[in-house]
Amino acid sequence: MQPLELGVLASGSGSNLQAILDAIKKGKLNARVRLVLTNKSKAYAIERAKRVGVPAMVIRHNGYESREAFDQAMVEALREAGVEWVVLAGFMRLLTPTFLNAFPMRVLNIHPALLPAFPGVDAQQQALDYGVRATGCTVHFVDAGTDTGPIIAQSVVEIRDDDTRDSLAARVIAREHVLFPTVLQWIAEGRVHVVPPQTPEGRTRVRVEGVSACLGVKAR
Ligand code: GRF
Repeated sequence: MQPLELGVLASGSGSNLQAILDAIKKGKLNARVRLVLTNKSKAYAIERAKRVGVPAMVIRHNGYESREAFDQAMVEALREAGVEWVVLAGFMRLLTPTFLNAFPMRVLNIHPALLPAFPGVDAQQQALDYGVRATGCTVHFVDAGTDTGPIIAQSVVEIRDDDTRDSLAARVIAREHVLFPTVLQWIAEGRVHVVPPQTPEGRTRVRVEGVSACLGVKAR
């Protein structure tokens, strides 16, 4: 089986990038990170890439006159690097069709909540403020909306009565570090199938073959 040729887009600390790099190193994920791209010159993700000899590139969004021009520059860099699958790991910019059409159903995101609940920023605080008893994280294909694309897998995290935003966020991100490499390995194994809408109003869905796409809940 061919390794997944990954491009990772990150704007911040890049701990999910680290989890992916670690899983590759341990032989748990059959993939190669061809390029790490960031729009922030101070993103710690750059250091993480450099440490293991992965090329890292900064493309600053404010250097471009439009979102489309910025996206086109990223597409060119990713293609040049031989990237076939794009992973958003804390990338804080919305992607336009210019980007998404260049990698159709090949852009993945991780979100720190059980979508479709609590999309957008600070999902952990949103979950606490609402008073839900469980939250978690979601890996999904990216579409033009904010955290609206077809869901591949979710991992459930219990909310405790004494949780603060930080205590909850720490447990959610620990789960992200397991879920993202796991889903990427399923893709490498050919287990993830896109199911087109069955009715005119229907949604594109995802079928995952041979494994449970819901982690963190005990099987009955
Ligand atoms: C994670 O919480 C992820 O769910 C969200 O952005 C954060 C990125 O964290 N999309 P890191 O940069 O991977 O540490």
